[in-house]
Amino acid sequence: MLTSPGSRQLYIETYGCQMNVSDSEVVVSVMQDNGVAYTSEPEHADIVLINTCSIRENAEQRVWGRLEVFRQMKKKKPALLVGIIGCMAERLKEKLLEEEHLVDLVIGPDAYRELPALLEEAGTGQKAINVLLSREETYADISPVRYHKNKVSAFVSIMRGCNNYCSYCVVPYTRGRERSRNPESIIREVDGLAAKGYREVTLLGQNVNSYKWEEGDGSTTGFAALLEMAARRHPGIRMRFSTSHPRDISDDLLKTIAGNPNICRHIHLPVQSGSSRILKLMNRGYTREEYLERIDAINRIIPGCAISTDIITGFPGETDDDHRQTLSLMQEVGYDFAFMFKYSERPGTAAAKKLTDNVPDDVKSQRLTEIIKLQGTLSARSKKADIGRNFEVLVEGTSKKSAGELFGRTSQNKVVVFPAGSFKPGEYVKVNINSSTPATLIGVAAGPVI
Ligand code: 5AD
Ligand code: SF4
Repeated sequence: MLTSPGSRQLYIETYGCQMNVSDSEVVVSVMQDNGVAYTSEPEHADIVLINTCSIRENAEQRVWGRLEVFRQMKKKKPALLVGIIGCMAERLKEKLLEEEHLVDLVIGPDAYRELPALLEEAGTGQKAINVLLSREETYADISPVRYHKNKVSAFVSIMRGCNNYCSYCVVPYTRGRERSRNPESIIREVDGLAAKGYREVTLLGQNVNSYKWEEGDGSTTGFAALLEMAARRHPGIRMRFSTSHPRDISDDLLKTIAGNPNICRHIHLPVQSGSSRILKLMNRGYTREEYLERIDAINRIIPGCAISTDIITGFPGETDDDHRQTLSLMQEVGYDFAFMFKYSERPGTAAAKKLTDNVPDDVKSQRLTEIIKLQGTLSARSKKADIGRNFEVLVEGTSKKSAGELFGRTSQNKVVVFPAGSFKPGEYVKVNINSSTPATLIGVAAGPVI
């Protein structure tokens, strides 16, 4: 159904991971098909949805804060419907409906097809909820509506859920069991993006290496094959993927990356800790040595590949020595970038049930500060090494600081700023790097990429 002027308007706010960004695009698609238009202005909305994250307590706190803001809005506009969707909806379920005048509907990550029906229900004054998790749902047939301004790069979800059960992590509980999406529907979506002029696609899953699709005749497609299929069909489009699990990242995949120039030279490989003892408590399925062996394989098979990571500090029982092992592993790998977090106990997880959150908050903070400082040095070193070199940059937009400059990324996922000249977003430009700031490479265009 097409939306028309005067149709109801949906405003959606998204927290958490890239998967949530991708899910919000599915939600906007489902709503548009039911005559509800998207608006970027909350004041114009008849329906407000908050797509939420439960990964750390502070992610949930932010959402409670936003709910208060919308409660005030509801006072002025009583017909406004407010819904919580995503991981927090799944984790907290009916609890979210208990408070008066706060939330009208609660919808878990596998129930977005039910949104229109649940909205009808909520519109009659009843509170509506569906938090059923599915073993099959991949939203394969839904064309996500890319409502963000960036028309250069897009996310494509290739699987949902997670079976890893890392002891600290809420995801298997909020997103359910792992399931892969039909490769045909993935390739069709990538083809559609190519036709619309997109130049970069990121294939998304909680653990992309375990992507697996089985045909009726028993033949299977794994992640390396899927990635190669997408890359070969669209040589002008950059392919990225996220996230890889260190236990499952195979030489086969690394060789696929090495053999296809449009698969980006960047791997996000969350280590979480540099101590094998803590990794075991985290149920990560690898030791420090095994992780470092995978790093060697990346460096050997894909020279010049950037590597980034996630690190949790202050996991239950983490000693000073464990912490020092994390610092030494960071040095040894020389990460180009890292996301770093304080451990946050999540109710219902194995760590919450079996371990005591016994590292005092000030120790967690102090360790986090040390880790962030070290990563600052490593990131600066990684950027300095790029000075004097040429990189192919995919232009994403105009620099926030100066209208005369463009920004984009290298294949290694480093942000580059350079004088615009006559170049435009969506173009590949060869840029010579001449300096760097803590977050950015700075250069001059050396010509288009032919
Ligand atoms: N506390 C802190 N960080 C967490 N992460 C996942 N669960 C927790 C938790 N309970 C981090 C991990 C993961 C990233 C997405 O979030 O580093 O890789
Ligand atoms: Fe994404 Fe995990 Fe947060 Fe859910 S809990 S939104 S899967 S990061």
